[in-house]
Amino acid sequence: MLDLPKRPRRNRKSAWIRDAVRETWLSPAHFIYPLFIHAGEGVEPIRSMPGVARLSLTALLEEVEAAWSEGVRSVVLFPAVVDGLKTPRGDEAANPEGLVPSAIRLLKQRLPELTVVTDVALDPYSSDGHDGIVGAGGRVLNDETVEVLCQQALCQAEAGADVISPSDMMDGRVGAIRRALDVAGFTEVSVLAYTVKYASAFYGPFRDALDSAPRFGDKKTYQMDPANTREALREVELDEAEGADLIMVKPAGPFLDIIRRVREATTLPVAAYQVSGEYAMLKAASLNGWLDERRVVLEALTGIRRAGADVILTYYARQAARWLAAG
Ligand code: PBG
Repeated sequence: MLDLPKRPRRNRKSAWIRDAVRETWLSPAHFIYPLFIHAGEGVEPIRSMPGVARLSLTALLEEVEAAWSEGVRSVVLFPAVVDGLKTPRGDEAANPEGLVPSAIRLLKQRLPELTVVTDVALDPYSSDGHDGIVGAGGRVLNDETVEVLCQQALCQAEAGADVISPSDMMDGRVGAIRRALDVAGFTEVSVLAYTVKYASAFYGPFRDALDSAPRFGDKKTYQMDPANTREALREVELDEAEGADLIMVKPAGPFLDIIRRVREATTLPVAAYQVSGEYAMLKAASLNGWLDERRVVLEALTGIRRAGADVILTYYARQAARWLAAG
């Protein structure tokens, strides 16, 4: 060994060397853009998510076409369902003329190459605000719910969804949905499983967006305890065995260690969801002039990629694509 001072700064001395040795890259190719839709006209801003709104189908098409032209190639749809259509069994979730199937058909007709991801869970449709059917004593019923989720998934696949994304956290739903899709001939439809989904307070603004907060209790009997790691690895094993194509960790920012552990535990691609509360924090501080929005958002997204995520679901997808294009 030469007895000379070690100077790692040499690899930071110019833009060229920094670019040449950079280990992690962000690109719009990694993004899935979550969008809220409603059956009414126009756009309805969401109080706790400045810059995000519930979109009519016309506004949805405009937004997705603009995002597409900026390099965003995939969206995931969340419906704001009017109270009158919410029922204990979330029946509207499997209505082929419902909001989500209509939106899928519209998008696939105008942008056939767009990858449309759809959420499978009952909460936007449930009069109880839960992801599943509520039984005696307020328990969310697992197996009864899985049957309904299969109907929901089939309805979305029939409308043209490319990727089905169960976010409900019922046991066994990935395998049941995979089987239902295959039996119906949808062998090409992928399953992006919310495998490791924590019972997180960071979902607050999302529930404002859909008016989907639980009407009683919380989601701790099905979503995971944020204190747990081994349980995450167990969920990965199960969803892998049940046929998931991609594994998701959610939220992203407060769970970077989990993304890393999951990355190391599976050969499947890993997705991470930078959720509504993470968006709200970054946006609020930026609007106050306390943080430089462009830099903190790109840093947060880079951190999620560096932790091991291949794909990122982010409300900043379109904005980040624009920033990346501007260099
Ligand atoms: C519902 C669902 C939620 C999110 C995605 N799908 C909320 C919840 O589980 O209560 C949260 C997304 C976000 O906060 O951005 N199944």
